[in-house]
Amino acid sequence: MHHGRLHDKVCLITGAARGIGEATARLFAREGAVVWPTDLRADSATRLARDLGPACPDTSPESLRLDVRDDAHWGRVVDAIIARHGRLDVLVNNAAITGFDPDLHPPMGPQDPEHASLESWRAVHATNLDGTFLGCRHALRAMKPHAKGGPIGARGGSIVNISSRSGQVGIPGAAAYASSKAGVRNHTKSVALYAARQGYGVRCNSIHPGAVLTPMWEPMLGSGAAREEAIRGISSGVPLGRMGTPNEVAQIVLFLASDESSYVTGAEFVIDGGILAGAEAEPPER
Ligand SMILES: NC(=O)c1ccc[n+]([C@@H]2O[C@H](COP(=O)([O-])OP(=O)(O)OC[C@H]3O[C@@H](n4cnc5c(N)ncnc54)[C@H](O)[C@@H]3O)[C@@H](O)[C@H]2O)c1
Repeated sequence: MHHGRLHDKVCLITGAARGIGEATARLFAREGAVVWPTDLRADSATRLARDLGPACPDTSPESLRLDVRDDAHWGRVVDAIIARHGRLDVLVNNAAITGFDPDLHPPMGPQDPEHASLESWRAVHATNLDGTFLGCRHALRAMKPHAKGGPIGARGGSIVNISSRSGQVGIPGAAAYASSKAGVRNHTKSVALYAARQGYGVRCNSIHPGAVLTPMWEPMLGSGAAREEAIRGISSGVPLGRMGTPNEVAQIVLFLASDESSYVTGAEFVIDGGILAGAEAEPPER
């Protein structure tokens, strides 16, 4: 009998209601995982969980509502998972905002280093960086072996932090987003080394997507012909000539979540169609 690559692994995903988080939840379910697809948008998370059927043991909005900024939410959800399954095997810290998300927050104004408000700077970091910090902290307590004081049944685990190509280069029009993602990149390595030193058997890695077509882009793309034009413009700046798909990112999350990556920790994985591989100002070919 074929067991999936995540057979029986208990997996918590944040920001799973749409985009890369949703694609990851769907792929994990196909690979035999027990999936907790949480989100701030609890109704959408619930719809997804019902759609995934037996892979999702709990489909109530109360259980799947996880605002990553909120320490108490994390405590409630991780405790519920441990109460039910006795362990947490995988955490995917995926939830994030850009600062241009009209339906989640009041308008945050410009995001460049000269005009961004302190309030919006803090709001973006609260979700992207504080949320990841909290997730790692709760995952460490849930994943560390019982011998180290963790819950009965724990057997190590894998934390996958979704950073961004923007965590590796400056983004003049989205400075807080870029800074928060650079923080995620660095914190991943601190967590990886800490967990290794403690002998927890917990791995922690970051993924750096670029130009992946998800709902996150919509406020920046416009609609109709302008939208098509904007996508063509972005694609022309990608060496592979197109934007990526959520499922392409989910495939790397799957690898890092599974035991196939058992010797990988503190590492970063770029998935951006080649954007970061080169520079615009290259000398002309002769
Ligand atoms: N799409 C890209 O091109 C791209 C590029 C680089 C990095 N990323 C990263 O990939 C991840 C997923 O992005 P996406 O493109 O799928 O975005 P998306 O906006 O489509 O989905 C993000 C999800 O996070 C949720 N969310 C927002 N704030 C939250 C909070 N406080 N608590 C819980 N959930 C919250 C939203 O409700 C949404 O469902 C993010 O970390 C993003 O920064 C995306």
